[in-house]
Amino acid sequence: MADNDINSTLVENRQFPPSEEFVARARIKPADFEALHKHAEANYEGFWEYQARQNLDWHKPFSITLDDSRAPHYQWFTDGELNVSYNCIDRHLATQADKTAIIFEGEEGDTRHISYQQLHDEVCQFANGLKSRGIKNGDRVVIYMPMTPEAVIAMQACARIGAIHSVVFGGFSAESLRDRINDAGAVMLITADGGHRGGKIVELKTAADKALEKGTPSIENVIVLKRTGQDIAMQSGRDHWWHDIVAGQSSECEPEWVNATHPLFLLYTSGSTGKPKGIQHSSAGYLLNAVITNLWVFDLQDNDIFWCTADVGWITGHTYVAFGPLAAGSTIVMYEGAPVVPDAGRFWKIVEDHKITVFYTAPTAIRALMKFGDEYPNKYDLSSLRLLGTVGEPINPEAWMWYHTVIGKERCPIVDTWWQTETGAHMIAPIPGAVSTKPGSCTLPLPGIVADVVNEEGESITEANKGGYLVIKKPFPSMLQTVWGDEQRYIDTYFPKFGGKYYLAGDSARRDEDGYFWIMGRIDDVVNISGHRLGTMEIESALVAHERVVEAAVVSRPHDVKGEAIVAFVICNGERPVDEEVKKVVQELRDWVGEEIGAIAKPDEIRFADGLPKTRSGKIMRRLLRNIARGEEITQDISTLENEGVVKQLQGKE
Ligand code: PRX
Repeated sequence: MADNDINSTLVENRQFPPSEEFVARARIKPADFEALHKHAEANYEGFWEYQARQNLDWHKPFSITLDDSRAPHYQWFTDGELNVSYNCIDRHLATQADKTAIIFEGEEGDTRHISYQQLHDEVCQFANGLKSRGIKNGDRVVIYMPMTPEAVIAMQACARIGAIHSVVFGGFSAESLRDRINDAGAVMLITADGGHRGGKIVELKTAADKALEKGTPSIENVIVLKRTGQDIAMQSGRDHWWHDIVAGQSSECEPEWVNATHPLFLLYTSGSTGKPKGIQHSSAGYLLNAVITNLWVFDLQDNDIFWCTADVGWITGHTYVAFGPLAAGSTIVMYEGAPVVPDAGRFWKIVEDHKITVFYTAPTAIRALMKFGDEYPNKYDLSSLRLLGTVGEPINPEAWMWYHTVIGKERCPIVDTWWQTETGAHMIAPIPGAVSTKPGSCTLPLPGIVADVVNEEGESITEANKGGYLVIKKPFPSMLQTVWGDEQRYIDTYFPKFGGKYYLAGDSARRDEDGYFWIMGRIDDVVNISGHRLGTMEIESALVAHERVVEAAVVSRPHDVKGEAIVAFVICNGERPVDEEVKKVVQELRDWVGEEIGAIAKPDEIRFADGLPKTRSGKIMRRLLRNIARGEEITQDISTLENEGVVKQLQGKE
């Protein structure tokens, strides 16, 4: 369904302009939008220079806007100095110390309101605590925490002292955590005894212990937040309770003034190879796009209550929870748990209870909640909402329309935001008071973002609705700096074509008659499960690491809630599992992948055969596997296959 809808967007020609009422109070009105674009087109560097001076507080102003002497390594505002935590917190204290910065709701219903002053004090105390354990400028700190305010406090505290944090999503396994700790060479791990999710306790410290047992030589200290209160093991000398670390610490901590290009964080994401890569973001450039997109795309204003449902383990939770909205001086909502606890009305109840005005979530969540019917949202007062957003994957028009009518009551513009871990912030998205929306399109590039759709030669495709490579033709401030510890991979992945001139996003896209962008999907071996990016190679590597598996190939097929589902084709040692054994081995392999990567990577379906279909040169015929996974008719010539019979086995016909 979802896939059909996405593919038939050619006939999707509904347009939704913002209401006059929305435009009247929007930060960016149509004339402002035009002016921004004109400025960026007339003087690209001047535009970014102006934005950086306007939107960030500098300790030492910059004189160089863009240094491209080491292209494709681009450095912005290179000689400037600032501090991200100062920009997110301190600069608001003079005018809004008592304003609520964070409204927190735990899955069990506990709530907390934290003002900007309190946030300042807690960040400073924790930053001083980090210093007391020897953490200093440039050290890497891994954060593996539930969605509680302390996760944001930990991120902000690292930023305050110049430590480089790397958040690992709590749903990732011990194995994944260990790999990331080791790749980053982290000296500290910040975690919690557990978190509440889906009515259960997520055993974070237990998983962390497992990761540490497997070997993380760089880790010196572990800080543990008491969240659930359950019994956990604490290793003397290495493990410290959060409350002990902050006890007696001063609520003042002079920010470490860092260079604009100082790494703010690393965030691991999947690519075409088996190993996730540490995307390295800068301080100033990253924060600039983070803050302006919160102001432009989410139109954040003084009295807005902004809820982005993403976990801080993903880039969305960095830019639209932990940093951007705070830099904009807004009030954010953080929710610890699952959307269906105690029932499918939880999100809508949170909207009513906290009077949320701007709501941002993933299409997969919308589709999942839509399945429970309208009665859940209809039970709650959603009239506080004024703007809705989506991110992470294409949204099918059916889900878009449900969001628009049942949640937004036809009043709220929907901003469909295209961006990536690597871009740090929105790139293509409607500015809601200025751009009409179309269901399924992320609309137009933001001012200062030179996105294009090009052919194999790198030429702009001008023909409407013809697909091509999505590229960004000019560097922009929040562009990733590099891949941590792997410069070559940075160049090979993002600048492999077109003479290294354009940033290759890894997506295909088309533009319609109005120049609106429509994302068509990935061009590499990356799948998008519930808006989360996974490399098929990564899952294959996990599968072949199991003693029973000789070879594995992973592809995706459309799924009506998750967007895509994972199908694995597996060749086992010895006899191919049949009958009763199939179920057993499937279970074993699913659990194994859960342990190796995390529950999100568990294949939805596993099929066994005696071999994989390969070309004469030995390449796995992935397109054929995709056809099989989707139950499509096989139109390709398979007569040259060494063992034609495997196709029948993989189709389940033998
Ligand atoms: O394929 C695109 C898809 O998600 C990819 C980026 O994934 P990640 O780095 O995990 O970041 C997700 C949150 C920004 C993109 O290459 N994607 C992201 N947003 C959209 C999208 N596809 C279609 N429409 C979107 N709005």
